[in-house]
Amino acid sequence: MAGTRNLYIETFGCQMNERDSEIMAQLMGEDSYLETARAEDADCIVVNTCSIRGKAAQKAYSLLGGYRALKERRPDLVIAVAGCVAQQDGESLLKRMPHLDLVIGPQNIYRLAELVAAARDKAARTAATELRPDFAIPPFLPKMDGGGPPHKRFVTIMQGCNNFCTYCVVPHTRGREISRRPEDILAEVSHLAAHGVREITLLGQNVNSYGRDRQATGHDPLDFPALLRAVAAVEGISRIRFTTSHPKDLSPELVRCFAEIAKLCPHFHLPVQSGSDRILARMNRHYTRADYLAKVAALRRARPDIAITTDIIVGFPGESEADFAETMETINFVRYDSAFSFKYSDRPLAVAADFPAKVPEEVKSERLARLQARQDEISQEISAALVGQTLEVMVEGRSKNAGRQWSGRSADNRIVNFDCDRQLAPGQLLPVRVAEACRHSLRGRLA
Ligand code: SAH
Ligand code: SF4
Ligand code: F3S
Repeated sequence: MAGTRNLYIETFGCQMNERDSEIMAQLMGEDSYLETARAEDADCIVVNTCSIRGKAAQKAYSLLGGYRALKERRPDLVIAVAGCVAQQDGESLLKRMPHLDLVIGPQNIYRLAELVAAARDKAARTAATELRPDFAIPPFLPKMDGGGPPHKRFVTIMQGCNNFCTYCVVPHTRGREISRRPEDILAEVSHLAAHGVREITLLGQNVNSYGRDRQATGHDPLDFPALLRAVAAVEGISRIRFTTSHPKDLSPELVRCFAEIAKLCPHFHLPVQSGSDRILARMNRHYTRADYLAKVAALRRARPDIAITTDIIVGFPGESEADFAETMETINFVRYDSAFSFKYSDRPLAVAADFPAKVPEEVKSERLARLQARQDEISQEISAALVGQTLEVMVEGRSKNAGRQWSGRSADNRIVNFDCDRQLAPGQLLPVRVAEACRHSLRGRLA
């Protein structure tokens, strides 16, 4: 097509970054850029980066470094860095890597097309990394023919974080909590439902405090539970998920939603980080292990089939063997369906980087291995107990193994593979009886 250019986007990090990349692709599409699968073919490369741990940031730097040769061959190529490394490093990234054209922080992605056009026409190198407390997330309706699964989508409801956990870079890269206008969120969900989307995942760094910033400035009193009820009322949506939640902001009203809203999937990702009160205090998490366990118990009372998953950091500065033993006790007590666990990593803007009593790398590795081995056993035991049960599965598509095999997701987000000779459509709901628990999935038969 005459006048089109090629766009290549590489995305690291969390679901919000994935959603931001979709938004950037759509905005660039409106400015005649078509997505391509190869960086070599691109007229513009966007690397959407993550800075949550040292390794994540390192991956972004090495990918960006590798694009120098492309830029030397093609001086008109525009290379943009977006996401959390962009926000964290700002202007200094342009100095460090002279082949980069643009550095764009998370609040500035809506200006991408304009900034790329300026870089192209005037060869201007810019760092757009201002973070404004009065920033408003613009209304935005997703395009449905731009790739992505036809039956499920992410919807960002807020961005930023006010919690300042001492290990975390996110409040520094995403700024303060900003909630989207409820009418914009509901318009987006209705638009998705009208285009055949059946499942939505509401995204925010701390969704449980949705609306607090708007209430403080005299806007509508809609909080997260009220937003969930409004989203559940949208016709056509059959499954609602959300991520991520801070335990301190998990209210009794949100727990009640799990008893009362049938469309709300029985899965709660509730990052615990550590089982030691001493370490939780040093992390600035504002809850104790007892507070946390009481919330887990309340969720299980409201929805006995709820799957609980978590995030854990091992080797936070000052973590003793006794502190770690309390984390192990916690995973044995809660029996998480699954857990993401990480070795603590110093982040440049996070205060824990200056904490004393750093845990040696080999101790962190050994603790992580012990924790992951135990969690694998627990996950496996929980999966094995599902054999013989019938689960409601939402069809995703044909399974990777060809033939008659299909793949879907249970309400608690497990991958379920099953045989079926009929043609199925993504988003369809079917009952599947579990026959076998594999390592990362279940196998079953149509019931
Ligand atoms: N907003 C989410 C966290 C997103 S970051 C929340 O509050 O739960 C995802 C996970 O990365 C965190 O839950 C934490 O377990 C981990 N993480 C964050 N900073 C880290 C660091 N400096 N080192 C190791 N893990 C970290
Ligand atoms: Fe980071 Fe804590 Fe905010 Fe989560 S709640 S994004 S871990 S500062
Ligand atoms: Fe990474 Fe930023 Fe998300 S640091 S996890 S991309 S909020």
